Amino acid sequence: MSQSHTIFDYAQQFIPGGVSSANRLVDPNISFTRAEGAYIYDEDGKQYIDYHAAFGPPVLGHCHPDVNRRVYEELSRQDLIGVGSSQREAQLAEKIVGHIPCAEKVMFCNSGSEATYAALRLARAVTGRRKIVKFQGCYHGWHDAVLMNVISAPDKIGHKDPISAGMTPEVIDDTLVLPFNDVEAVNATFEEAGDTLAAVILEPIPHNIGCVLPRPEFLQALRDLTTRHGVVLIFDEVITGFRHALGGYQSIVGITPDLTTLGKAIANGYPLAALCGREDLMQHCRPGGDVFFAGTFNAHPVGIAASLATVEILEQPTSHEHLFTLGERMRNGLRDIYARHDIAATVAGFGSVFVSYFMDGPADNFTDLLRNDVDMFVSHRRKLIEEGIYELPVNLKRNHISLAHTEADVDRTLEIVDKVLSN
Ligand SMILES: Cc1ncc(COP(=O)(O)O)c(C=O)c1O
Repeated sequence: MSQSHTIFDYAQQFIPGGVSSANRLVDPNISFTRAEGAYIYDEDGKQYIDYHAAFGPPVLGHCHPDVNRRVYEELSRQDLIGVGSSQREAQLAEKIVGHIPCAEKVMFCNSGSEATYAALRLARAVTGRRKIVKFQGCYHGWHDAVLMNVISAPDKIGHKDPISAGMTPEVIDDTLVLPFNDVEAVNATFEEAGDTLAAVILEPIPHNIGCVLPRPEFLQALRDLTTRHGVVLIFDEVITGFRHALGGYQSIVGITPDLTTLGKAIANGYPLAALCGREDLMQHCRPGGDVFFAGTFNAHPVGIAASLATVEILEQPTSHEHLFTLGERMRNGLRDIYARHDIAATVAGFGSVFVSYFMDGPADNFTDLLRNDVDMFVSHRRKLIEEGIYELPVNLKRNHISLAHTEADVDRTLEIVDKVLSN
């Protein structure tokens, strides 16, 4: 029996399902114990090129020495004091204001779910309205207002598809779910209910279903309609923020939301998230304001130190260049391989993110992705794992390249993909 099995058995005795986050139980269930740069290592010492990247945080690669050094330095000064303002927290806020187009003020919390929760509460407070719009295929965290309609069964599309028991029905009712990239559906909803909406929240690139690129006219329609109807537009850049650009996807596409949520890559693997946006909105969250924003661990010095180090590295122009160049190399290489093997595949992605859907295009919304061959998607990844390439063996999940990945890693990955498909 491998060490991973032994650990799983042990964990299951004390932890329901053996893991503490719903998406971590996958087949094969491997226990990883070490991570460095582009690689992760299992309990048995086997090395894998890591593209799962913990769902996205280590954009510089695992255990980046500069990030860890800043974390150690911070730990030698303090763990958590938790009162008053802190110099480094303010420095990081200044960096975010400098980079993210919509950010005039910033507040820090620990997870993306907290950030989207706060964004929606703030939107409801400033508009005095209850209803929000989200899109099929987008994930924004585990709270009731948004935990629905991500990877839905075909018969659930067009209906509410809550992901957990125990969610409050009134909260579910207040969320309208629309198809992504569908300007007509958005127009119709605004015509009917625009003046009852508090917020529209979206992943500007829905990466929770791999990579669906937004049509520019779709994002523009959202911007125009929300402005016209006094609705708060929230870009959830928990995945795209810092990974695609320090200014988030909004800085690339040139459409500025009212609020933005950040998480994952902003601290390269340490827990930190943020809510940022227009000053007139964010001021409601100040102490004594009408919107309560608090947390014992908010702006934890470890996350702040890690994030400052991460920003400084990503500010070097070569950083995103490297991520984008390797992403392109991977996508082009995969397209060649699938063509040579005569496999119907759509290789999607943006920057450092890539995913192979086993279907012909288009891939414009979640409904299109129902054509993906799920068995092939998952079984192909299981074969790659056996060969030391770690892509999460779960339908529609994206892959991430980091600054630590090299051309040689990409080429080795492509060789193995070719080999696996040849067998
Ligand atoms: C776009 C997006 N928003 C929010 C979240 C929630 O973040 P967290 O898991 O840190 O609560 C996630 C997590 O995957 C996400 O992908």
